[in-house]
Amino acid sequence: RKRYCILLAAGSGNRMKFPTPKQFLKLAGRTIIEHTLDMVDGHPEVDEIFIVMDKDYRSFMEEILLRNSYTKVTKVLNGGASRRESSASGIFAVEEDDALVLLHDAVRPFLSHRIVSDCYKALEQHASVDVAIPAVDTIIKVDEQDCIQSIPDRSALRRGQTPQGFRADVLKRAHHLAMEDPEVKVTDDCGLILRYGLGDVHVVQGEERNIKITYPEDLYLADKIFQLNTV
Ligand code: C5P
Repeated sequence: RKRYCILLAAGSGNRMKFPTPKQFLKLAGRTIIEHTLDMVDGHPEVDEIFIVMDKDYRSFMEEILLRNSYTKVTKVLNGGASRRESSASGIFAVEEDDALVLLHDAVRPFLSHRIVSDCYKALEQHASVDVAIPAVDTIIKVDEQDCIQSIPDRSALRRGQTPQGFRADVLKRAHHLAMEDPEVKVTDDCGLILRYGLGDVHVVQGEERNIKITYPEDLYLADKIFQLNTV
């Protein structure tokens, strides 16, 4: 079965407060998406990579692809206004319904080979997988007045990361259903699987260093993690 990795890179990165989307900011001299691509392109189990991005930044991406010798990037697709529309654009571009597909945030450059292998392995037995780590903080649920509604037992809580992985036919079905669902607010692909009852979602152990670069402070942290990874 063919194994894909779709990199979601169509976000505007408003929380970063820089005009350039965060996937094109530099970390240790290279853009964040290049670090992510190095890892995914170099993974022996990945057959093909699609990149989903904002069409206004296509020329940035073309330059990146020209100055690197990635061998697995076969499609650069236009994303949508929401993460859900971007992942729909990626999954509908996968032709084989029995393919195993990982969707990964381009702004998580420290994805490990182990996580990718574990996700593909889990997809041999489960139709959907997520990657998560234990919650270190207490998670509180609040109401509209910002008062605590409940404090769920922390031992059962996890923080979701990416990749999320699916058999292509299952995720295509979820996105078809979402397009006809006026009430859908879910932006997360595993959330769609749960909403439409399309089976269990198996959880693969993530890693603390698989951070999502979201806020300016994350760039400092990312720089330190990069140094750790290279020693
Ligand atoms: O906004 P957030 O940090 O949750 O974005 C996670 C990932 O999803 C990023 O890699 C971002 O580029 C991508 N995304 C996307 N299309 C959108 C919004 C986010 O591909 N419309």
